Amino acid sequence: MSHDAPPEQPLLETRGLSVDFGGLTALDGLDLAVYPGEIVSVIGPNGAGKTTLFNAITATVSASEGDIRFEGESLIGLDPNRVTARGIARTFQNVRLFANMTVLENVMVSQHCRTRQSVVGALLWTKAFRREEEEIAERGKQVLSFFGSRLTGYRFDQPAFTLSYANRRRLEIARAMATQPKLILLDEPVAGMNPTESAELTGLIGRLRDEWGFAIVVIEHDMEVVREVSDRVIVLDHGVKIAEGDYADVSADPQVVEAYLGHGASA
Ligand SMILES: Nc1ncnc2c1ncn2[C@@H]1O[C@H](COP(=O)(O)OP(=O)(O)O)[C@@H](O)[C@H]1O
Ligand SMILES: [Mg+2]
Repeated sequence: MSHDAPPEQPLLETRGLSVDFGGLTALDGLDLAVYPGEIVSVIGPNGAGKTTLFNAITATVSASEGDIRFEGESLIGLDPNRVTARGIARTFQNVRLFANMTVLENVMVSQHCRTRQSVVGALLWTKAFRREEEEIAERGKQVLSFFGSRLTGYRFDQPAFTLSYANRRRLEIARAMATQPKLILLDEPVAGMNPTESAELTGLIGRLRDEWGFAIVVIEHDMEVVREVSDRVIVLDHGVKIAEGDYADVSADPQVVEAYLGHGASA
């Protein structure tokens, strides 16, 4: 799965990106690029700044310095909804769903950034509104069918809180897919899964790119998953990129080994 000749224009690019929290520098002058159709893993010890990177890209924290560009245009100053509308979706380290909504409703509401009808249309239950609702439900089912029987059939109508942990994580990915993104950011997607579930999700990450064409950035501690899915691996430590390359190079890099051993992390 190597992409030897990436196109000139990165899909996503950060230049000198820094994020400060009071006295703490969580990201420190980070440069990175992600090309269309790539799967890039971001690894590093706990507290390295991986989630902060996702938070900065999706505008849930502000950059202190530097730029974040998507398809050549800066995202700085946009609110999170605008970033989603531009084509970036994410999942969270701790699953976030509408627990009392059904599986299908969860993927329907996440399409709101793409819908045309107004609240007035909804209240008046106009023909145009009904038609769009049907389209949204159809698209939602199509997205859920990617996960096979785990999220389809009778499960469409089950409230999210009744799902197993692994299915909740799958539904979160479905919600990201439903925003019709170009780039999906996955924050530790297999965390808490058993080896079988983890292997299955690893396969799904590859299929997300191959069948749906998404570029993917995945934060992951499980090195099996990283080895399996990554075109490229970026290693962060203390908010700084300490290594970048294919899995074999990065995992043999003495600085990377040191960063993990130095923190006593298991990954
Ligand atoms: N909203 C925040 N406010 C203050 N400190 C934060 C915030 N988010 C993250 N941090 C701190 O920034 C550092 C990097 O955190 P994070 O990006 O979550 O690391 P990782 O995901 O690599 O484990 C940590 O020291 C963390 O405590
Ligand atoms: Mg994190």
